[in-house]
Amino acid sequence: MSKVYVFDHPLIQHKLTYIRDKNTGTKEFRELVDEVATLMAFEITRDMPVEEIEVETPVTVAKTKVLSGKKLAIVPILRAGIGMVDGVLKLIPAAKVGHIGLYRDPETLKPVEYYAKLPADVEERDFIIVDPMLATGGSAVEAINSLKKRGAKSIKFMCLIAAPEGVKVIQDEHPDVDIYIAALDEKLDDHGYIVPGLGDAGDRLFGTK
Ligand code: URA
Repeated sequence: MSKVYVFDHPLIQHKLTYIRDKNTGTKEFRELVDEVATLMAFEITRDMPVEEIEVETPVTVAKTKVLSGKKLAIVPILRAGIGMVDGVLKLIPAAKVGHIGLYRDPETLKPVEYYAKLPADVEERDFIIVDPMLATGGSAVEAINSLKKRGAKSIKFMCLIAAPEGVKVIQDEHPDVDIYIAALDEKLDDHGYIVPGLGDAGDRLFGTK
């Protein structure tokens, strides 16, 4: 079963409080999401493989470590996921960025892919899907399906706030995909919003209604 990691670092929790606050305006909301994405990227990359090399310091030769060149890709789910991309790229600037767009079919209410653009070497990359909110889990599962269908073998899912319902859906459908969150909230309301949540992440990021 996929593991769930809750990043309860004080800085992440502090910033998340202001992200939740309905009085936080678009500019500050966007900056805070960016900052939390960077902090979460720091935690999510803890297991990146390293290798030992030698460098000459001004004093002597040191055996020291560098990242062993594992290829990464970040994939935001359009549109709110875009708000987390730059924050992750600050720490992993060489990562490629794919995009997945989904819409909700008005009849089945299921997410349907309308756009997918990924790096060419899908099978060799570690993917981090980003979306601020894991609500019903429908979009997350479809985005993971979309990556797997194209050959992805290693996928992590990262979001700011998750509802227990969404976590369970990923665990049931994709037990190999670990979930990284800043907060696990109480539940979904009748409209599919996370409670207490932060409202509509896309609207708050982009100043739309
Ligand atoms: N998407 C959002 O932006 N907010 C929610 O609460 C649920 C889904």
